[in-house]
Amino acid sequence: MSLLLDNIGLLVTNEPEQPERTDAALVIDGGIVAWVGTAADAPTADERIDAEGRCVIPGFVDSHSHVVFAGDRSDEFEHRMRGEKYAAGGIRRTVRLTREASDEELLAGASRLVAEMRAQGTTTVEIKSGYGLTTVDEERALRIAKTLTTETTYLGAHVVPEEFADDPAGYVGLVTGDMLEACAPHAKWIDVFCDRGAFDEDQARAILTAGQARGLQARMHGAQLGPSGAVQLAVELGAASVDHCTFLTDDDVDALVNSATVATLLPGVEFSTRQPYPDARRLIDAGVTVALACDCNPGSSFTSSMPFCIAVAVRDMGFTPAEALWAATAGGAAALRRDDVGGLAVGQRGDAVMLDAPSYVHLAYRPGVPLVHRVVSV
Ligand code: NIG
Ligand code: FE
Repeated sequence: MSLLLDNIGLLVTNEPEQPERTDAALVIDGGIVAWVGTAADAPTADERIDAEGRCVIPGFVDSHSHVVFAGDRSDEFEHRMRGEKYAAGGIRRTVRLTREASDEELLAGASRLVAEMRAQGTTTVEIKSGYGLTTVDEERALRIAKTLTTETTYLGAHVVPEEFADDPAGYVGLVTGDMLEACAPHAKWIDVFCDRGAFDEDQARAILTAGQARGLQARMHGAQLGPSGAVQLAVELGAASVDHCTFLTDDDVDALVNSATVATLLPGVEFSTRQPYPDARRLIDAGVTVALACDCNPGSSFTSSMPFCIAVAVRDMGFTPAEALWAATAGGAAALRRDDVGGLAVGQRGDAVMLDAPSYVHLAYRPGVPLVHRVVSV
C-alpha cells in the first residue's frame, strides 16, 4: 500500500543537507518513506492525500513519560502556584494510589494519555515504570507500558518507598536484584532519579551499572532540583540521555559536548514547578545534542502536548522554532538511540503530521491552538 502526500507547502524531513523543502510531496510505502521531492515531480501511488499547502512535519518523538499511574495531584500544583516548592517526596502519594489500582485502571489511564499525545502529533513515546516500587508493581507497570510502546524504561529507582525509609541501601539492593530480574525482560532502558530526596550518585551508579550488566541501556533524571554530579555520571556511563538539566554547571556542559549523551529538556516541568527555565542556547551553542520531551506525569508536568513544550521552549528557553522542532523530533529519536524515527528522509518511518498552518513556526506563534490536522503513521 503506497500513499502520496501531495501539495505540501512546507515539508520538514530533518535531512542534514536539506531539512526543509517548499512545494513538496512525500511517498510512504509499507509505512516507510519511499520518495521525497518537489510536488511537480511526484510519482503516483495507491492513495493520494492533498495537503492543500499545509506544513508537514515528522511525528514528535516524546522520549520521556510516566503515564502508568493512578490519581491526581492538582492540589500540589495549586500550592506551587501560591509559592510552595516542588519536592521529590510527592511521588510517594502517586505510588500509594497506583499500588491500589487494578491493571485495567492503569492501562485505561495510560492509553488515554497516549491517545492524547497522538492527537497532538506524537508518534513515538517512551514510558517509564516508577510508581509501583515493589517487584510486582514495577513489573506490572512495565507489562502495561509494553502494550503501548517498545520504548519501556525500568524506573524502580524513582524514590525510596515508605516501607524502606529506614533502609535505603536495602531498597537499592532490591532495585538491582530481584526487581531488576523481574523487570528486565519487559524493558529496554533503566533510569534513576539522581537528585535531592531521591538517589545519590553512588546509588545511581550502582543502579545503572547493574541494569547495564543485565542488558538494559541507561538514561537518567539529573540536575532537576539542583546541581549535582548526575550529569557527568550519565556521560561517564554512556547514558543515552540525561533529562531535566535545569541546573547545569560549566563542567556539565563541557562533559555533554562530544559525548554520547543527549541533554533532554522538559519545559512542562519548569512551567508547572516555577523553577527557572534551562538555557538551551548555552547547550546548543556549545554543540550539545538537545531533545525536548513532555515528562507527562501527575506531579511535576501533567502535559501530553509536544506543541505546548515547543511553544514554551521557544518563548522561554532560547530555542529558535526550527531548533525546537528538531529537538522534539530528531532530538527525541537520538535520546532513544533510534534512527528510524524523528525525520522523514527516504528509509525512515512514514510518521508524518499535517499541521493546520503554513509553517511549523505556528507551533510556537499560536500556543494552545490545536494545529494538528491529521497524523499519518502505521
Ligand atoms: O521527571 N523527577 C522525577 N520524576 C518525575 C516527577 C514525578 C512526580 O512528581 O510524580 C519527573 O519530574
Ligand atoms: Fe521524569
